[in-house]
Amino acid sequence: MTQHWSHTFYARQDQLTGWYGQDIHLFHKKQAARVTQHLGCTGTLLELGSGGGQFAVSAARLGHQVTALDLWAGAGEYTRTLASRYGTQVDVVTGDFYSVEVPGAFDSVCYWDGFGVGSDDDQRLLLGRIATWLAPGGVAFVDVYTPWYWAHHAGFTRAAAGYTQAYGFNADGCRMTDTYTAEDGPVTQSLRCYSPADLRLLLRGTELSLVDLWPGGHYDPHAGTFRPEVSLGECMTFTALLQTGTAPDAR
Ligand SMILES: C[S@@+](CC[C@H](N)C(=O)[O-])C[C@H]1O[C@@H](n2cnc3c(N)ncnc32)[C@H](O)[C@@H]1O
Repeated sequence: MTQHWSHTFYARQDQLTGWYGQDIHLFHKKQAARVTQHLGCTGTLLELGSGGGQFAVSAARLGHQVTALDLWAGAGEYTRTLASRYGTQVDVVTGDFYSVEVPGAFDSVCYWDGFGVGSDDDQRLLLGRIATWLAPGGVAFVDVYTPWYWAHHAGFTRAAAGYTQAYGFNADGCRMTDTYTAEDGPVTQSLRCYSPADLRLLLRGTELSLVDLWPGGHYDPHAGTFRPEVSLGECMTFTALLQTGTAPDAR
C-alpha cells in the first residue's frame, strides 16, 4: 500500500526549512489569547496536527490543559522540548487523528494550518471525530484554506538555500499544492480548499455546524509581507468556529 504523502512531507519540510523547531512567535501568543477570550476561560484543549507545539505551549502558559496530537514523532519531540523550556505541561500524543484513541471531552479543539490533507470523505471523518471530542458547549477552531487565494497565487516560486518552493493549484480538485524541490527531488503537500459555503456542505451529516468564522491573513509572496487580518475575500485561510448543534442562519 502506498503511504500517504502527509506521513513524510512535514519531516522533510522541516529538514529543509527548520520551521517546526522554532521558538514561540508573537503570532502564537495572540492566537492563544484570542481563543481564550472567545471561550471566556481556560479549560481542556486538544490540538490536532500540533507541529512544533508553539501554539500548544502558548495555550498551556495561559492555563489551558493541553493535549497536542501529531502524526510525526519529531513534532512531539519539539513540543516536549518547548514545553520544558517554558516550564509548562503539555500532554503529547503521537498518532493519526483519523484513528488514534484520545479519551476525554475537551472544551476546545484546535487545528491550525493543515485541514484538507485528505479527501472530502477523510475531512468528514475527522469532523465527525472532532464532534465526539468536544464537551457540551465546546468550540472547535479549524483553519481552512480558501480557494481564491491559492488559485490566484499559483505559479509563485521562490528560491531558498538548498531548495525551491512553488505554489500550485489543482482547479478540478480545488486543492492548493506546495512543492519543495531539493537535490533529491520534489515533495508536495496538497490541501483541499473550501469556501464557507463549501464547508457548510461538507459539515452536512456531521454533528457540527459553522457558527462563526474569523478571516485570516494575506501573504504577498512577491513582496514577502504578511497582513495578519484581511477581509474574507482576500484571506489565505479563515478560522471556522464549529460547535455541535444547530447552525445559525447561513450568511
Ligand atoms: C502544516 S503543519 C501545521 C503545524 C501546526 N499546526 C502549525 O500551525 O505550525 C501540519 C501538521 O499536521 C500533522 N498531521 C498531518 N496529518 C496528520 C494526521 N493524520 N494525524 C495527526 N497529525 C497530522 C503534520 O505532521 C504536521 O505537523
